[in-house]
Amino acid sequence: MPEADKEGARYFTDQPQSTPGFYLKGSHQLDWGMKNRMARVFDPSSGRTVMLAIDHGYFQGPTTGLERIDLSIVPLLPQCDALFCTRGILRTVIPAECRKPMVLRASGGPSILREELSDEQIAMDMADAVRLNAAGVGIQVFIGGEHETRSVHNMTKLVDAGLNAGVPVMGITAVGKNMVRDAKYFRLACRIIAELGAHYVKTYYVEDGFETVTASCPVPIVMAGGKKLPELDALTMAYNAVQQGAAGVDMGRNIFQSEAPAAMIAAVGAVVHKNMKPKEAFELFNALKAQGAQGAMRAA
Ligand code: R5P
Repeated sequence: MPEADKEGARYFTDQPQSTPGFYLKGSHQLDWGMKNRMARVFDPSSGRTVMLAIDHGYFQGPTTGLERIDLSIVPLLPQCDALFCTRGILRTVIPAECRKPMVLRASGGPSILREELSDEQIAMDMADAVRLNAAGVGIQVFIGGEHETRSVHNMTKLVDAGLNAGVPVMGITAVGKNMVRDAKYFRLACRIIAELGAHYVKTYYVEDGFETVTASCPVPIVMAGGKKLPELDALTMAYNAVQQGAAGVDMGRNIFQSEAPAAMIAAVGAVVHKNMKPKEAFELFNALKAQGAQGAMRAA
């Protein structure tokens, strides 16, 4: 027999139910599943993320540092907030026991052998993202590229599917091989991507005016890493990006092509989540490098 309800103090009739907001820019009106997935990627205590980008194989094949993801990347998983990878690598190499959120590359088409890279299509069904328990999907958008309209349409179709399933979409400002990279271009590209529905945007850092790119984009921006730089330069770039409004990074080569990837991701984490200054983070990198991978893991 069911127990009867007891009336009493536990109803707290004098306390209105709390109506919490949401800590990520432009995300406060999303549905619960969307917010929950965003909260798995962006650490609620800092509002930022260190996403480790290893999706390069989708058009470059076995990129330097990613030849054996089981050996180079799987040991780094405890240190990232999220992994950005292809569904092929997820299914074949990433252990299903891993509790880190996975953001899946959802576009593809031309390989690095082609001159024109903007000729992409959607390369994954949203149903498969849900099947894989993805925390999000990512897609290139080639604003100003030869196949601009198609790549925008790819993203809007993915956004519709993502809204239907509760899966956030990361729009990536793709610059191809030769396109200009300045604040004016990235303001335009990021804003278009957000206006057309992406839930967050991945874009490159620019020395001059990056804060205008983040300010005019109504959703969180994560900084793309780009080609390998000396560690201090990469840490400085990450520091400047978050100080100028980025909600973290989605970095690949500057982590996995570092001579000490575990030390580097720990140093990037300190910059992103603790506002550690670049020089201090570089000292941390060197200290952890000297201790070997185990030292970096302990610091995570
Ligand atoms: C770039 O748009 C793609 O998403 C890449 O394949 C990758 O994520 C880039 O990472 P990184 O430039 O930091 O090596």
